[in-house]
Amino acid sequence: MELSKKLREAYKACAHQVPGNGPRNIGVLKQAFAEIDAGLESDTYGKGPVIEDFENKMAGVLGKEKAVFFPSGTMAQQIAMRIWCDELSLHKVAYHPLCHLEIHEEDGLKKLHRIESVLLADKNRLITLADVQELGSDVACLLLELPQREIGGELPEFDELVAISDYCREEGIKLHMDGARLFEVLPYYQKTAAEVCQLFDSVYISLYKGVGGIAGAILAGSEPFAKEAFIWKRRHGGDLISLYPYILSADYSFEKRRDRFPAYLNGARELAAMYNGCHGVRTRPLVPVSNMFHVHFPLPKEKIEPVFLAVVEETGVGLTAVVYAVDEESSYFEISIGDNYGTIPKEKLQQAFSLLDEKMEVTLR
Ligand SMILES: Cc1ncc(COP(=O)(O)O)c(C=O)c1O
Repeated sequence: MELSKKLREAYKACAHQVPGNGPRNIGVLKQAFAEIDAGLESDTYGKGPVIEDFENKMAGVLGKEKAVFFPSGTMAQQIAMRIWCDELSLHKVAYHPLCHLEIHEEDGLKKLHRIESVLLADKNRLITLADVQELGSDVACLLLELPQREIGGELPEFDELVAISDYCREEGIKLHMDGARLFEVLPYYQKTAAEVCQLFDSVYISLYKGVGGIAGAILAGSEPFAKEAFIWKRRHGGDLISLYPYILSADYSFEKRRDRFPAYLNGARELAAMYNGCHGVRTRPLVPVSNMFHVHFPLPKEKIEPVFLAVVEETGVGLTAVVYAVDEESSYFEISIGDNYGTIPKEKLQQAFSLLDEKMEVTLR
């Protein structure tokens, strides 16, 4: 069997998976729906108490006038960009070179909406106020991703965010948040969701990442913005006749996890320190600022996969299911801490990390 597949399967079958919130299976759905009254009626094409109550609740959490439930963040954010571009009659937006819209959406923004993108900053660092000030091009909207996932989940300091927000308001640039992992960064900022969101004109959050629902997203902003978003959702075919399985699971998962994000941050910091204690291993960021981080190795993926395969086979501790190549000489993987981390016996983790350190030392020779 191919090494990558062997690692994936050993991880899947192991006793202790370290990242994540646990399995995504029917059991999780049964748990989410167990306490819900069997007579509760479905939503219908975006209307009805199931969807509207959840949207109102999330609008309150985010401190925005109105929130709209979407089946995906991909749909929600392209629509947000379209609304701001139409409003300003300017079909250009700015974002990070590794923005989800730029690298993971098959150019939806360009092909479906004819919106041009201006890539701000070097791809290996965060966007700063100076980058925005030196934009050199009129844009309708600036999209900021909190945290910046593709560089390990780095995060601007809150003061920098405030300065960017003030500048955009002065210049008439709409500011949109890709807050796929917004709840995950609140313990670092020591702010409420609403305090962060008030710096932005529109906000997207994911309901299946740290929150742990099946799928889905919330797009929030002013009342007129949400009205437009609702119309665009219909145009995109995102207005399914019934979205209640997604909404009920999102609501259940949000309530279950809304107070756990500080523990996820602490877990991420503890785990990152363990990685950084191993020969040749470095996390990015060195000290995580959310529940996520990247783990880097100065060796090719083909040399790292056997190390993690040995660790999971010998200790039953699954640290990762995959290793990605950065280039021919280095590799990495991503970690997101969720409910799993707190359930792993500490001595098991220690055993896994002392073996990892040993194997890395040998592999580096
Ligand atoms: C930063 C970021 N933005 C947007 C999305 C899109 O979310 P969805 O999978 O709901 O389309 C993702 C998904 O991975 C993401 O990581």
